Amino acid sequence: MTEAMRWQRTHTCGDLRGTDKDAQVILVGWVASARDHGGVIFVDLRDRWGRTQVVFNPDTALIERAKRLKMESVIGVVGKVILRPDDMINKNIPTGQVEVIAEQLEIFNEAKPMPFVIKDPPEALDETRLKYRYLDLRRASMQQNMLLRHRTAQLVRQYFNDLDFVEIETPVLMKSTPEGARDYLVPSRIHKGKFYALPQSPQTYKQLLMVSGFDRYYQIVKCFRDEDLRADRQPEFTQIDVEMSFVDEQAIFDIIEGLYQKVMKEMLGLDVQLPLQRISYKEAMTKYGVDRPDVRFGMEIRDVSDIAVKTEFKVFRDVVEQGGFVRGILLPGAAPYSRKQVDDLIAFIKPFGATGLVPIQYLEEEIRTPVSKFLSEEILKSILERFGAKIGDIVFLVASKEKVVCDSLGNLRNKFGAEYKLYDSNTYKALWVTEFPLLDWDQDAGRFVAMHHPFTSPHPEDIPLMETDPGKIRARAYDLVLNGSEVAGGSIRIHQSSVQAKMFDLLGIQEETAKIKFGYLIEALNYGAPPHGGIAFGFDRLVAMLAKEGSIREVIAFPKTTSALSLMDGCPSQVDSDQLEELGLKLDVEILVD
Ligand code: AMO
Repeated sequence: MTEAMRWQRTHTCGDLRGTDKDAQVILVGWVASARDHGGVIFVDLRDRWGRTQVVFNPDTALIERAKRLKMESVIGVVGKVILRPDDMINKNIPTGQVEVIAEQLEIFNEAKPMPFVIKDPPEALDETRLKYRYLDLRRASMQQNMLLRHRTAQLVRQYFNDLDFVEIETPVLMKSTPEGARDYLVPSRIHKGKFYALPQSPQTYKQLLMVSGFDRYYQIVKCFRDEDLRADRQPEFTQIDVEMSFVDEQAIFDIIEGLYQKVMKEMLGLDVQLPLQRISYKEAMTKYGVDRPDVRFGMEIRDVSDIAVKTEFKVFRDVVEQGGFVRGILLPGAAPYSRKQVDDLIAFIKPFGATGLVPIQYLEEEIRTPVSKFLSEEILKSILERFGAKIGDIVFLVASKEKVVCDSLGNLRNKFGAEYKLYDSNTYKALWVTEFPLLDWDQDAGRFVAMHHPFTSPHPEDIPLMETDPGKIRARAYDLVLNGSEVAGGSIRIHQSSVQAKMFDLLGIQEETAKIKFGYLIEALNYGAPPHGGIAFGFDRLVAMLAKEGSIREVIAFPKTTSALSLMDGCPSQVDSDQLEELGLKLDVEILVD
């Protein structure tokens, strides 16, 4: 028998129960703790299934080696299961009724002193955790996150398989596209001077698969985007990518709502009522100031432009007369806000372009506002009424262009929601946001860019606007928003090459350029393309929500930092000059020595 065979475990560290009393067992695992109680050594042996207490008695030949056991070493133990005395039962763990009296000990790998203690919550700095990610992943909460991710992926596959979807892999080396985020590029050795791009999403491929007739496609797929990173963005992330033929929005909503309902039920035991709420982009922006509203709490934005324009207050009047808006939100019970608190809020909304914030404090003795000189009591009362304010409440008004008003109040609303705990963080509220604008004006580039992507179909009623007022065209695009985060986004696609060509034209992409970049797709739309549409979930975001983690990093095994570094293996890193030469590349940057 080989050494490894001799140490085939009989049970995992999470298996043993009172009913295993007297069993002769072999356990293997990591030393999670070792304590000396008057010469008896108690070791907590850990694997991914749990922990079992192993006892080394002072009268065994093993005791000296047991005393020297180092934390996190990997060991094997042969021993006998006994019941713990009643007062020693550990009710916190499923194996807490028993312990194993060690008769043999094997040390497979003695661990050096750890860079940090493996415990929840972690005490180590984020950088240290990422540098030793394989150790961080030993923590029970990280193991649970990875298992949750695994089980969710299994469930997703099962759901789509049962509905006759086909999982098809699409290329990771593809053609660089000019839209959306920056591409990660891969130089070609054989075709020097040419590059592949890593896919930002399999968008064009999944549309081509519809042209091929697969009808229902899905894939759990890695995507790559070289963009500024945040807690909910990684340079490489995973999508649940879906495409369907002969469908409208409703068919896609039905499939995705079914998936969402199943995931919430099986992963969290929650019942989701369908259909999910739906609101248009326009309504989301006016009511919540953002296109991904957190509807776990109310605090809707109200418009008082009609009142403001009739006042003596020039700032308000000018804004409204120039096409802007005066809107606000009500914070209940916060009337005694101090000047300093208001100043902090002004500083908070400044980055969104707001130049001021007008508080109206509804106090018992008076209605207080810094602009009382210009706003009569009657006007103030009618504003407060618009918000349904009661004594003790405060209203904050912002006057500016629509975008500034929305951004400022939307972000203020979210800030209040979190700060004043206006929702139960254990609840989940999902909704569809629909009818996004097709195009967004890019001030810097001086041209329109696609709000979703250039393959999104315009609303049929708005097609004539392509000629006259493109900025007003609504897209057949939709996002699934969960607790204020965009978890999925998709659209009904353009399936006619003439409309697609028109779209490229609107985006200022010359016919020649469009042909070079997307010629294959435009051509495919000429050979029998079914009407089709789809959606993609941010899988990491979905799992992070299920795991109640604030950052997607916590549900990704080996994530990057916010500056796109992998602290563990040290990438990106320099490469040999031979490698560059082979690729026909010469660096034109000063190389900083790592
Ligand atoms: P979109 O660009 O909206 O659509 O992406 C779909 C979903 O992917 C998630 N996501 C990200 N997650 C982590 N890190 C990132 N950097 C990141 N970027 C996006 C979001 C988002 O909702 N091809 C289209 C889908 C379609 O039209 O079918 C697409 O990629 O949760």
